[in-house]
Amino acid sequence: MSDTEAGNGRRSSLHGFWSSKLAFILAVTGSAVGLGNIWKFPYIAGENGGGAFVLIYLLCVFGVGLPIMMSETMLGRRGRRNPVASMALLGEEEGGGSWWAVIGLSGVIAGFLILSFYSVIAGWVLAYVVKSISGVFVAADAASVKTLFGSLAGDWRETAIWHTVFMIITVVVVARGVERGLEQAVTLMVPALVAILLILLGFSAATGEFEMGVRFMFEPDWSKVSGATVLAAMGQAFFTLSVGMGCVMAYGAYLPQETSIPATATAVVCADTLVAILSGLVIFPIVFANGIDPMAGPGLIFEALPLSFGNMPGGVFFGTLFFLLVGFAALTSAISLMEPAVAWWVERFGATRARASTVIGVIIWALGFLSVFSFNLLSDFKFLNGTFMDNFDYVTSNIMLPLGGLLITIFCGWVMSENSVTDELNIGQSTLYRSWRFLTRFVAPVAVVLVFLNAVGWLDWLLAGAATT
Ligand code: PFF
Repeated sequence: MSDTEAGNGRRSSLHGFWSSKLAFILAVTGSAVGLGNIWKFPYIAGENGGGAFVLIYLLCVFGVGLPIMMSETMLGRRGRRNPVASMALLGEEEGGGSWWAVIGLSGVIAGFLILSFYSVIAGWVLAYVVKSISGVFVAADAASVKTLFGSLAGDWRETAIWHTVFMIITVVVVARGVERGLEQAVTLMVPALVAILLILLGFSAATGEFEMGVRFMFEPDWSKVSGATVLAAMGQAFFTLSVGMGCVMAYGAYLPQETSIPATATAVVCADTLVAILSGLVIFPIVFANGIDPMAGPGLIFEALPLSFGNMPGGVFFGTLFFLLVGFAALTSAISLMEPAVAWWVERFGATRARASTVIGVIIWALGFLSVFSFNLLSDFKFLNGTFMDNFDYVTSNIMLPLGGLLITIFCGWVMSENSVTDELNIGQSTLYRSWRFLTRFVAPVAVVLVFLNAVGWLDWLLAGAATT
């Protein structure tokens, strides 16, 4: 760990530094790549009709997500503190006031909410590693696999045990700190993850309905697109890139001053997109080859894949590898979901990392029971968008993260002085800088606002109004 002065004259982060540029890329990629790519992307793409959703998602990823990832990294590195303190400090420094700390605070809250349900799904993934090894999927039929998932989700005790196991692993990794915990974990996991996905892709191409899968994912059917579809695509872009909630900002605080932010952000966004598209290409050919409904929802990977793996040669091996891979991906994301809150707690109350992660881990674990119960005891208790878990997911992905992202673009594009921005981004007045600035000042904020207005039906109303006047 180098404890040098930051280039902007600020003392280095309390929590240490990434040991290399690659370590930072791996860490942010580890955060970005997770259940969002492997569990959520295929099922949301399936529910929203495939092609058109995927194209809107890609537009959001590159037009909105990428500039926000650069902005968040830049804010983190300039603040060199946890997201709450960094934004308070930068808000003051740039003459906007310390209330900009709300970006950090909303991120801490979003992190609690997301991890509380994320850990439940990740717990099932761990359960499936064990189930797969034990061979219960072998020669299974559709009914038995459905029953198997139903009995896991329906049994709150079993679900709670796995949720607890996953939270304990997460807390242990986070407690070990930036270099020893986070970095070691991602340096190992991310390359392994890509390798296993490639093996699975070959397997899927050889045995699945590959062409149908590709067509489903890339042939747009615009008639299926509504305001809700566009909001879902944008929410998914924020969720999958881990932007809009201070997580990238927290990681940016540990980034050495000389590292190029555009290069690292672009590498992460490309890697994340690659994994999502690969996951879709792994999953849909198997789904179509086995007559499974692509609209199966959150159960898609838990119901469809074991059925397929169970009936393929080498299925125990490939199935186990697959769920192990998803578990690793979930862990590297979960540690990043805790980081803003842990860094904040350590700096605010002078606690040790171990203590802060334990306290925060226990709160999130307890909150997670609302999601554990969403599939059994409280499965009939629905409000707004559905169960507790549905609501936590909807509110964070589709509202909190895009709102956080909107505020970040307004801050970087309109509040921060150009001097500070060019000093921190360090790319001069290049075309790259001008593209980033244009996307950040105009494209990203306008896109987020339009998608919000469209989702609540106001866009049609406003356009109709404009047409009649
Ligand atoms: N990006 C992660 C995934 O795709 O699974 C989830 C996530 C992590 C969302 C960190 C938000 C975040 F801050």
